[in-house]
Amino acid sequence: MRAPVSLPHAYKLLNHGPTVLVSAASNGQQNVMAAAWAMPLDFDPPKLAVVIAQDTFTRRLIEASQELCLSVPTNEQLELTWAVGSTSGREIDKQERFEVIYEQASLISAPLIGGCAAWLECKLYQEPSMQERYDLFIAEVVAAWADDQMFQHNTWNFEVRQTIHHLNHGTFFATGAKLQAKKIF
Ligand SMILES: Cc1cc2nc3c(=O)[nH]c(=O)nc-3n(C[C@H](O)[C@H](O)[C@H](O)COP(=O)(O)O)c2cc1C
Repeated sequence: MRAPVSLPHAYKLLNHGPTVLVSAASNGQQNVMAAAWAMPLDFDPPKLAVVIAQDTFTRRLIEASQELCLSVPTNEQLELTWAVGSTSGREIDKQERFEVIYEQASLISAPLIGGCAAWLECKLYQEPSMQERYDLFIAEVVAAWADDQMFQHNTWNFEVRQTIHHLNHGTFFATGAKLQAKKIF
């Protein structure tokens, strides 16, 4: 079940560096791609940065709508993640081809991707020169959600399912054991 995450805790959904799915919608079209280069930038208001290459169809929809959603996929979505990151919405309908589930977001037009571990609804900051020069998009998180089995009391629980981290060519690793550092300072 999807449960709301309060905005000051939203950074935790990306803090451990998972591969994400970036989705956007504009003018009756919607699309999704994979992104490994996404990170939190601030606590409150929560902001994030994500690299979105010039030639992607998703970028066209993001630039048209000024909104995007980051969904955090799980180990059960390896094939989906690799597939939407290896094909373009310019050529195929990913929803039809890969049975992507688009769910309505609460505050933005971009869809949430069904079956994920967490979701961050975002509105873009106007930084055209960074977008143009570095493919770098900065956005404010305006709503956040997480699966209530995987994120409880503002902490991840990876016992049932894990988030995924990309190495290369469709090889990922799942989030591993939690290690608690002892205080030596
Ligand atoms: C695991 C994975 C991670 C990726 N990370 C990024 C990324 O951080 N930034 C990016 O621009 N493209 C990234 N890509 C590539 C895009 O997902 C890919 O170009 C996709 O086909 C774009 O789809 P679209 O044209 O439908 O928007 C990644 C691909 C994979 C498989």
